[in-house]
Amino acid sequence: MSEPIRVAAIIGSLRAGSYNRALYRAAVDLAPPSLLINEAPIRDLPPFDEDLEDDGDPPSVVAFKDALAAADAFLIVCPEYNQSFPGVLKNAIDWASRSHHGTKVLWGKPAGIIGGAASRYGNVRAVSHLRPVLAHLDVRVMARPEVSVINIGNHIDAEGVLTDEKTREHIATFMQAFATWARVAREA
Ligand SMILES: Cc1cc2nc3c(=O)[nH]c(=O)nc-3n(C[C@H](O)[C@H](O)[C@H](O)COP(=O)(O)O)c2cc1C
Repeated sequence: MSEPIRVAAIIGSLRAGSYNRALYRAAVDLAPPSLLINEAPIRDLPPFDEDLEDDGDPPSVVAFKDALAAADAFLIVCPEYNQSFPGVLKNAIDWASRSHHGTKVLWGKPAGIIGGAASRYGNVRAVSHLRPVLAHLDVRVMARPEVSVINIGNHIDAEGVLTDEKTREHIATFMQAFATWARVAREA
């Protein structure tokens, strides 16, 4: 059996009861064993500031970039804020886009995006803004299948478990396709 594919997950919501974090937990549960998924936390990243960077990346930034550098692929799980993706996620991407020990930690790596939001459109407008940002950074985002959970609060129980069977099936299908996407990219 080949080496597992190391996946760094970035969750674009900071709130404790995040439904997108619940989706992330489901994605980890439903992923094929070839994927080794660990979160790359963004909570402690300061707002991006070139002066801070000039003084040397703060420890939270170093830890974040180390996690991305060690990964073969990225899984982004994000809600939609004001018809786009959350600022905390853009901030994390801005930090990640900068040089790390002389290398680029995002460049050329595969990624998958899932998420959900409260509206009847799910997070599709967030994803439509996120894709060109990632393309600019040469991150290879899988086009389909897509998982955008509408009315997301209706699918998560009080314990933060994704209970909706159809959505679990969609996530399982997504994670299977993502494993193939990431493996092919690693072997290319
Ligand atoms: C600042 C803000 C803007 C939002 N804008 C949208 C939006 O444009 N579309 C949408 O479907 N939901 C929107 N919502 C609702 C979120 O989809 C909902 O709060 C969701 O549960 C957030 O994800 P989380 O549970 O992972 O934190 C917004 C919420 C906030 C706090």
